[in-house]
Amino acid sequence: MSFDLVLFGGTGDLAWRKLMPALFQAFRHGSLPPGGRIIGVARDDLSDDSYRAFIKARFDEVELAKRPREEEFARFAALLHFVRMDVTQAGDYARLAEMLKARDAQTVVMYVATAPGLFTSVCEQIAAAGLNGPQTRVVLEKPLGHDLASNQAINETVRRVLSEKQVFRIDHYLGKPSVQNLFALRFGNALFEPLWRRENIANIQITIAEDLGVEKRGAFYDHTGALRDMVQNHALQLLCAIGMEPPINAHADAIRDEKLKVLRALKPWTAQTLQEHVVRGQYSAGSIQGVAVPGYQQEAGVAPNSQTETFVALRAEIANWRWAGVPFYIRTGKRLAARDARIVINFRPTPHAIFSTPAGAVNRLVINLQPKDGLELHLLAQGGDKRQASRSQGVMQLAPVQLDLDFDKRFGSERVGAYERLLLDVIEGRLNLFVRSDEQEEAWRWVEPILDDWRHATHPPRPYAAGTWGPSAASAMIARDGFCWSEEC
Ligand code: BG6
Repeated sequence: MSFDLVLFGGTGDLAWRKLMPALFQAFRHGSLPPGGRIIGVARDDLSDDSYRAFIKARFDEVELAKRPREEEFARFAALLHFVRMDVTQAGDYARLAEMLKARDAQTVVMYVATAPGLFTSVCEQIAAAGLNGPQTRVVLEKPLGHDLASNQAINETVRRVLSEKQVFRIDHYLGKPSVQNLFALRFGNALFEPLWRRENIANIQITIAEDLGVEKRGAFYDHTGALRDMVQNHALQLLCAIGMEPPINAHADAIRDEKLKVLRALKPWTAQTLQEHVVRGQYSAGSIQGVAVPGYQQEAGVAPNSQTETFVALRAEIANWRWAGVPFYIRTGKRLAARDARIVINFRPTPHAIFSTPAGAVNRLVINLQPKDGLELHLLAQGGDKRQASRSQGVMQLAPVQLDLDFDKRFGSERVGAYERLLLDVIEGRLNLFVRSDEQEEAWRWVEPILDDWRHATHPPRPYAAGTWGPSAASAMIARDGFCWSEEC
């Protein structure tokens, strides 16, 4: 299958940090369909050859195992081309159109990796240049808007020039092998489904913790914050994957319909829940693995006295028969104690205790997303300790034990990465792992009252020292329900 992949923002950070390495891995794994071209588009004054040299130099910043050897790069580089253009100038699209039409590939992917403010005009210009034919697919990166209205405006423009099945909205969390395994766990195994409901589950915790700060993205992040950057998209997609009903098949719309129902069922915010069930924080100076790091307000590009949140914890509820009353706690932040993304399902205790168990010990399923990719099933068992048996006067003492499944060990850590998976899916036209416009709008609709509340807030985000698990108010929030975060108990 011949394809042309046009990379708007071809010299930008996303292109060389994530997309080129992912395309190279696909090439190395032999999964990139033969007969393709990758066409970088940017304003820079580059030729095909100097673009290849630019990309080659950037590979030095990629982790060692993913860097091409000299001869590998030479073969990969043959796919790379460059078109110099200003994406805001209608006239500049003619050159691109000429190049694409001369070849007339079966699939043309337009990856819009530009500043978000340019998404709509790029889509309009693609159409004006006659490049929105049925073979065209457009990939849009997040953030798609900064609130519901701006997201709807982008989606409306896109809808005027492309049909929904031509639009691939990326949420790279859906491309992670660990997240696909979550779907496999739920819908490829019969074991958990009967337990997966309010009768058996006490609470669910979704944590996406990063130990990194805002790095070089201070200016962008300061206008975005953790709620828009992580909760509206990645965390809510994880919540959907946990909370959705089994889809009727594995086709894109069957999956997306079920995710949409979860988003629609999220309990709306009230003045009271906005106060009690949302905690926002901002990191102050601290230390990460023994190295002192500055506070958020000292980061480059961040406004003095910035009120932007670098941490959010919240309590959500899915108001339907399966989940009514079960708290879903979401927590994400920068400069936390560790890089650790996991989903913890805490089951209810046994209805009647006949053995002696450590206080608070319950069955727990931990879905580790990163850096570990695997499953832990926490159980209670009798270890046969004779001294304990005599102390407990005949009552059997149970101790926590766990079954541990490490997908990296089982399948190898060289599995297909998120961007590689998603780019191949776009080229092959599979929409399963992409977000539909109605899902995205529903997610914005749900987070918007929080944004409004913060806009009028008189108190700043709660400070937390870099290297900790966030403000203590996040622990207080969950403790009010009688629970604790999984690293606390
Ligand atoms: C991005 C956010 O979407 O996800 C970043 O914009 C964040 O702020 C990143 O660091 C986290 O992705 P991952 O794959 O490293 O967990």
